[in-house]
Amino acid sequence: MAHDKIAVVDFGGQYAHLIAAKVRRLHVLAEILQPEDPVEKFAAYKGIILSGSPALSAYDEESAYDKRIYDLDIPILGFCFGHQEIAKHYGGAVEHTKREYGPATLEIKGASPVFAGLSAKETVWMSHGDTVTLLPPGFDETGVSRVGAGDGHPNAAIANEKLRRYGFQFHPEVDDTVHGEEMLRNFAVNICGCRQDWAMARFEEEAAEAIRRQAGERPVFLLASGGVDSTVCAVLLGKALGPERVHLLHIDNGLMRMGESAMVVEEFKKRGLGRNLHFADASERFLKALSGVVEPEKKRRIIGDTFLEVFALEASRLDLGSAILAQGTIYPDTIETGGTKRADVIKTHHNRVPAITRMIEEGRVIEPLAELYKVEVRELGEALGLPEELVWRHPFPGPGLGIRLLCSDGSGTPAQPGASGALKEALSGKAVDGALLPIRSVGVKADLRCYEQPVMLWGRISLEEAEPLAAKIYKEVPGVNRCVLDLAGSGFMSARPLAAAVTRERLDLLRRADQIVMDGLRRHGLYREVWQCPTVLVPLELDGKGREFAVVRPVLSERAMTCRPALLPSTLLEELRDSIMALHGISGVALDLTTKPPGTIEWE
Ligand code: XMP
Repeated sequence: MAHDKIAVVDFGGQYAHLIAAKVRRLHVLAEILQPEDPVEKFAAYKGIILSGSPALSAYDEESAYDKRIYDLDIPILGFCFGHQEIAKHYGGAVEHTKREYGPATLEIKGASPVFAGLSAKETVWMSHGDTVTLLPPGFDETGVSRVGAGDGHPNAAIANEKLRRYGFQFHPEVDDTVHGEEMLRNFAVNICGCRQDWAMARFEEEAAEAIRRQAGERPVFLLASGGVDSTVCAVLLGKALGPERVHLLHIDNGLMRMGESAMVVEEFKKRGLGRNLHFADASERFLKALSGVVEPEKKRRIIGDTFLEVFALEASRLDLGSAILAQGTIYPDTIETGGTKRADVIKTHHNRVPAITRMIEEGRVIEPLAELYKVEVRELGEALGLPEELVWRHPFPGPGLGIRLLCSDGSGTPAQPGASGALKEALSGKAVDGALLPIRSVGVKADLRCYEQPVMLWGRISLEEAEPLAAKIYKEVPGVNRCVLDLAGSGFMSARPLAAAVTRERLDLLRRADQIVMDGLRRHGLYREVWQCPTVLVPLELDGKGREFAVVRPVLSERAMTCRPALLPSTLLEELRDSIMALHGISGVALDLTTKPPGTIEWE
């Protein structure tokens, strides 16, 4: 039976694929199309969604795609860049305005069917720098957005009911737009009239078929970290090909959590995946390759390349040279590496280094989960019968603690306490002090990578007050993509960058701090509620004694494309602070309060 389906045009925004995943969750098939696809192709769909874009601006003449899609009698909905394109096509105007990131209130006007069943005010998620300043003729303004008590942002939602054209400046597809799913349902089901007859259960069958087709007669060799993705992938491969054709390789890269590798090997054996399980302790090789390297993207490349070297060595040692490489890559790994045509490189995921990309082009890599988000992988894991404690393990990045161990060449001017300029203004009237820290970490602003400084806050302020203050700071203070709260509460006299690279000693220190945090979350029954909680070691000396600084980053998320800080209870925070501060080599602990965007989950 043919399914009713929605076309999602990928203009390269971080969220294009997420839109398709969200529509599929409504049991409506959604497929990604490229802007250059011919208009005839679009005619097979019951609705079209235009995604956001990092590079194209609505007034940029290069934003070429077949504008004849607007002549089709098919409903069209655009988000962010897509919204601006619709406005422009029908005679509206778009201009650069002040950038906006994060939550805003949408005040709904009129009774557009796209907002059926929603309240007059809805929380939506913004990430943009352009605005529709002139409404096209025939269109109505169906929503105004507002951040805090600020001025309303016009034309945040527009509609032409007769033509069935709709535009949202915000992103309904991210989890932080609280009723985004209802908006998508209103569009796909009510406005486009799609039947909800597509089921995730079909995924397993289709994936198994694709695996068999691609593997042919060859054995498959899977790099298995022990995380949710690679374990689900291992089970899926086993089901598709039979366990005797699936070889698992677990590599200890020296960047794992405390005791993790031994536990992973045990777990695989317990799950009956031990038949062809191979283990390589390559920690020396990884640490040697990383020695003296400071730049985060370079670290990522080295880790990715070293994984491949070890894989090749093991494959030849085991006489598996003809094997096809399998990876548990999921969708965000691809999009953040700039893996779709137009997406910006936010970071190079370990499974997307250039050597792997070449192998993919040669058809030598199988990635059965490459279309899925974490929440879907977990759903699949449950359907495949994996136990809850495994399916709900926190995600752990392939490059492991390697990206949570910030490195520095020690250059940079030490920071003094006391705010100045825009930060001073943002903090005025608050019983709190703050300073920019002389270190940079990766973030994402309006779909583009940024490498900027964090602000540290301290003083008499609760987490509930600190969270909106943080949002105000990275909106108002240029060059800032994160805000952390000093858990000792006293700030610093001077913050000096320390020269530090990847060493076993630093990794051991980070492993101990990470263990304290993980134990604390479990003891307080918060492990499942908190989506992920990196602990980061930052080479900043706050005490004049050469000791480092630790940051705890608990986040709430569903798909990792966006996140909010998890506000942990003060008893737990005090325990974490005291235990981490007691570690030899640590002089301070802070809690990260940053949303994504503008920060990423990992610091790098
Ligand atoms: P960011 O830091 O980009 O992270 O907000 C989003 C999610 O992806 C994980 N992550 C990775 N996972 N290989 C992985 O398997 C990687 O190279 C990698 N980098 C980030 C991160 O832990 C978070 O869950």
